[in-house]
Amino acid sequence: MGSKENVLAFLEENKTNYISGEAIASKLGISRNAVWKAINELRKAGYSIDAVSNKGYMLSDDNDILSKAGIIAHLTDNLKSIYQCHSNMISIYDNATSTNRLAKEAAIAGAQHGTIILAKEQTAGRGRKDHSFYSPDGGLYMSILLKPAHLTTLEPDAITTLTGNAVCDAIETLVGVRPRIKPINDLFIDNKKICGILTEAGTEFETGDVQWIVVGIGINFDSDISAFPSDIKKTATSLFAPGKNTITKNQLTAAIINRIVCM
Ligand code: BTN
Repeated sequence: MGSKENVLAFLEENKTNYISGEAIASKLGISRNAVWKAINELRKAGYSIDAVSNKGYMLSDDNDILSKAGIIAHLTDNLKSIYQCHSNMISIYDNATSTNRLAKEAAIAGAQHGTIILAKEQTAGRGRKDHSFYSPDGGLYMSILLKPAHLTTLEPDAITTLTGNAVCDAIETLVGVRPRIKPINDLFIDNKKICGILTEAGTEFETGDVQWIVVGIGINFDSDISAFPSDIKKTATSLFAPGKNTITKNQLTAAIINRIVCM
């Protein structure tokens, strides 16, 4: 990671404290000028960073930009060290066709267990039975690549159910509301859909052995439901109203990864 990502990771780790430029520089082994440049670049990228003389810098609470550093800061210690060492295992796109499609391409190219693909929007989001999945800005769209050797089950239904429970647990822990699972792949709050899950797999034809599994999760996070197409709007809801989120997308992403990825 470059200085900008390292400074962001450090600020994420110390989110409630002011840290002096000198302390950041010494911890990261870079110059104070490099810290200052990184802070400016982060601000240009949209991060709100408080600066108080004699105290230092602090990442404001209202930042909700998906980032590797922001996700990694909320992972369990075991996963944190793995994703810190292999930061290419997390990819974040402003706009992707479908994170499941990208994860499947990565799987075929030999990507490792635990590879995560995220997008802020999808132009060709896929749902079950070849349906499309409407994926505008405000949603959380992620796909996780899993390899059978690391799994306790090979039943695709079990993985979808495990994922549904993991997302429910993560939402309940962070937000205090538990969605209801409508078998097997939809999560509902107040009888409206908040999340869909699509599990896809690649098998070796001769043996039928499962070689990889991609679990795709689409959550209406702080989506503007009023702007959804009329047929979807009737049956969909969002975890938060736009801009009214009490947690960040990074926190929810990490809480889900913590519950699904075993290394
Ligand atoms: C459904 O409701 O039928 C399942 C929807 C699954 C949507 C997610 S969003 C992230 C991942 N990428 C996709 O193209 N689909 C899944």
